[in-house]
Amino acid sequence: MSILFCSDSEDPAPWRDAIAQALPGMPFRVWPDAGALEDVRYALAWRPQPGALARLPNLRAVLVLGAGVDSVLSDPALPLDLPVLRLVDAGLVEPMAAYALLAVLYFQRRAGAYLRQQAHAVWQPREQLPPARWPVGVMGLGTIGRVVAQRLAANGFPVRGWSRTPKHLDGIETFAGRERLAAFLAQSRVVVSVLPLTAQTAGILDATAFAAMPEGSYLVNIGRGDHVVDGDLLAALDSGRLAGAMLDVFREEPLPAAHPFWRHPRVVVTPHVAAPTVAADAQAQVVENIRRLERGEPPTGLVDRSRGY
Ligand code: NAP
Ligand code: GLV
Repeated sequence: MSILFCSDSEDPAPWRDAIAQALPGMPFRVWPDAGALEDVRYALAWRPQPGALARLPNLRAVLVLGAGVDSVLSDPALPLDLPVLRLVDAGLVEPMAAYALLAVLYFQRRAGAYLRQQAHAVWQPREQLPPARWPVGVMGLGTIGRVVAQRLAANGFPVRGWSRTPKHLDGIETFAGRERLAAFLAQSRVVVSVLPLTAQTAGILDATAFAAMPEGSYLVNIGRGDHVVDGDLLAALDSGRLAGAMLDVFREEPLPAAHPFWRHPRVVVTPHVAAPTVAADAQAQVVENIRRLERGEPPTGLVDRSRGY
């Protein structure tokens, strides 16, 4: 019985140490050096190679080392009945809320304009509306999105939230379902997306969505790159319908050097750093879930495979 670490991008070392200490009876392997495939009982995965998990005949669960599970569920070879667990907070919520606040303040305080002015030594104060006149819409009101919404509200922004099922959050006007999306967008000067990527949310930030947003509004995307139809966003920025975008996630990562987002004057690009998984913050949740599974108890963060998150 062993644990297999499946990621080309993440460092296995802190996970090896944590597993050795907490679960000394479980050998720790790193893909592609999986040892005997039939011995692997649990996989710790972040963007695993497609087909890799399907080669493990006795795998009991995939423990995803992040909140979003799209890179695992998108593998067509993944067995349909295999339990997939995601991180629930595990240190991700606070940095996501901080990024969202930074992005909203960046636009509300005209930071982009001042950076451009500084490049030409221009001293020119600009009109600045107070937070109370900057309604913000948060797409996704789950573990992360609800704290994002509350953090923005605590900083004086009127906040609206949108989710699949109805929610009640003190001080936040909530909207639910696709039929309420346009009404939600129409009142949002900045839209912050913290959605998971599913069949229902792919491409949701498209020309129709941008047309529903107020003229001169802003987009912040910290969910997944595939939510955005890149060409539609560029067209909306070029026409002035949208005044700016701060993007942390992209359809292709790293964002290719030739992609127009890199050089667009109204786009701020960050390299998927809103909330990287910190092993020290996430290990306890992963270890506890393996222990629960070993005892036959329900784990936390079990993904609903039919919903896709
Ligand atoms: P979560 O707890 O599962 O919350 C997901 C939220 O999205 C829920 O409120 C859900 O609605 C809503 N939702 C899902 N499908 C929807 C749909 N079709 N229409 C409307 N709302 C929908 O997930 P989380 O832990 O907050 O994480 C959210 C996402 O953040 C992750 O999946 C990942 O993509 C992203 N993320 C990014 C970074 C980064 O560094 N950029 C870091 C961490 C996470 P219900 O409440 O009705 O179910
Ligand atoms: C990061 O993008 C995550 O999903 O945790």
